Amino acid sequence: MSNNLLKGKRGIVFGALNEKSIAWKVAEKAVEQGAIITLSNTPIAVRMGETKALSEKLNAKVIAADATSVEDLEQVFVQSMEALGGKIDFVLHSIGMSLNLRKGRQYDDLDYGFLDKTLDISAISFHKMMQVAKKLDAIAEGGSVVALTHIAAQRTFTGYNDMADAKALLESFGRSFGYIYGRDKKVRVNTISQSPTLTTAGQGIGGMDAFFDFAEKMSPLGNASAESCADYCIVMFSDLTRMVTMQNLFHDGGFSNMGLTQAIVEDYIEKK
Ligand code: NAI
Repeated sequence: MSNNLLKGKRGIVFGALNEKSIAWKVAEKAVEQGAIITLSNTPIAVRMGETKALSEKLNAKVIAADATSVEDLEQVFVQSMEALGGKIDFVLHSIGMSLNLRKGRQYDDLDYGFLDKTLDISAISFHKMMQVAKKLDAIAEGGSVVALTHIAAQRTFTGYNDMADAKALLESFGRSFGYIYGRDKKVRVNTISQSPTLTTAGQGIGGMDAFFDFAEKMSPLGNASAESCADYCIVMFSDLTRMVTMQNLFHDGGFSNMGLTQAIVEDYIEKK
């Protein structure tokens, strides 16, 4: 159902890898709501993944870029403004990757080269994206930048490894850059803290199935799906939230404010 919430807006969606990706749902819903968009992902993801199919479906240009490369990011903004015919109104950062997680390195045995990469890909890319956009004056006044994060930034979750540190840094960039971008250009910057979601990146987290089940039982509304996360992103891109900035917004079915639910108690008693 479309309310044309993004009618006439131009957007860039980073991170749509396959149909499960949160960014994939955001791209679909943004176009459904009247926006025109470009898509960006790594050259390998563009070659090997399903981004091309999405691009054809949504009539959206794909611009391959490694989000750790300032030059690549410049190209994404320059080419997006060309393709879409003007300044950008919204940007989604939906990017995360940890080589320590991929290679099974424990948190007390991190490879520091991998840690550098985790932070660069999953967090510093967000700062780079905003710095590049601001220098190019590529985002229109009232524009909205959103990055996806997780509550492991604030509280410790076993198995989340160095992604927790990356998310803490990502959220901090959201606040720090949000101040500067709001003050100078009236651009808003927010992070959305999403429930565990069964995507490619999500399934890379150690013990994801157990955590997914636990969070489902610990949240009065249950886990938020990728689709509902996309709905929240659309609202954050729309003019309905034009005074919201520098926030970390929980989109987690209530998980972040729960201590203990009856469902967990019953589960515990049953297994005892
Ligand atoms: P996904 O695996 O579909 O998306 C991750 C994306 O990051 C992929 O498209 C991948 O190609 C891209 N990427 C990796 N390295 C890159 C680089 N160097 N340059 C550009 N792009 C790069 O998984 P998902 O779950 O949709 O992840 C999207 C975001 O949501 C991530 O930031 C993730 O941490 C966050 N998130 C995910 C949760 C989950 O449980 N799945 C929960 C909370 C937040």
